[in-house]
Amino acid sequence: MPTILTEIDQVRNQAFDDLKAITSVEQLDDFRIKYLSRKGTVSALFQKMGALSSADRPEAGRLLNVLRDDIQNRFAERKLSLQSVKTSSAKVDLSLPGRKSFPGSKHPLVQTLDEIKAIFSTMGFAVADGPEVEDDFHNFGALNFPPDHPARDMQDTFFLSKTALLRTHTSPMQIRVMENQSPPVRVLIPGKVYRNEAVSPRSLCVFHQVEGLYVAKGVTFSELKGTLASFIHQFYGSGIKYKFRPTFFPFTEPSADIYISCFICGGKGCRMCKMGGWLEILGCGMIHPEVFRSVKYDPEIHTGYAFGMGIERIAALRYGVDDLRLFYDNDLRFLSQF
Ligand code: DAH
Repeated sequence: MPTILTEIDQVRNQAFDDLKAITSVEQLDDFRIKYLSRKGTVSALFQKMGALSSADRPEAGRLLNVLRDDIQNRFAERKLSLQSVKTSSAKVDLSLPGRKSFPGSKHPLVQTLDEIKAIFSTMGFAVADGPEVEDDFHNFGALNFPPDHPARDMQDTFFLSKTALLRTHTSPMQIRVMENQSPPVRVLIPGKVYRNEAVSPRSLCVFHQVEGLYVAKGVTFSELKGTLASFIHQFYGSGIKYKFRPTFFPFTEPSADIYISCFICGGKGCRMCKMGGWLEILGCGMIHPEVFRSVKYDPEIHTGYAFGMGIERIAALRYGVDDLRLFYDNDLRFLSQF
């Protein structure tokens, strides 16, 4: 009995060592013939059992079965790992050029909005947002639009029902902010707006605006001017010229449009500014007393200013993009330039 026990151990160690030394699938067959075939080492040990005493035979048989199973299991494992190396290395063609990766980046409109927010936050503006589905009161009535104002027409506004509509500007958030907070308020409100317009290079039916609102005691037009001039110089560069031109908005009095000198031609006149030398960038004004009354602020105590700009327009002017639809085509040739 003791001799066959040592032999079993020796065969096991030797077989395991041999398996470890195998480096290719082709060598596996030699191993199988040497140890596991009918004329192999394990069979030869089984044949030696005949010479054992009947007392030793059962235990020796059990140990031999264990040995055979051990070798078969290790053999199967080794075979599997060699085959997987073979298949994976066969798939790698080292002569192929590397695959290009396209890391994502912020959309130019998001970059533009982030910059606008950063500039105004240094001037003390908080950021708020609000609902895109509005009612007539917030979108029009409280902003002093008369009942027959053309903007209330179905031609311009997407109505969802008799009372609900998709906001046509971010100005209704002026009302919501003031309804919920007493002065002073200084807030910036970016968001999506909707207009029932045909999509063209110059107009979209869904776009973005940023609204600004500042209300406190004794706010003046020159503060409005100083704040927006500072924004223009930070955003477009200190060399840029600007001008205020009187205009009309129902919710501000006085109202102004701000123009900047065309940064493509420097004001001489080009395709970008349609030969005029100036580009309109935003609307603004001092809050109309009627607007204050609709949110129960006292216009005798508080004054304030508001402004609003289209983000697509601001971004287009800055980057010289002549078709607003490009911002929504998701064409990587366009987006990767920003
Ligand atoms: N809501 C205006 C529009 O959509 C933009 C605007 C103009 C907003 C003047 C203002 C403002 O807050 O004071 O055309």
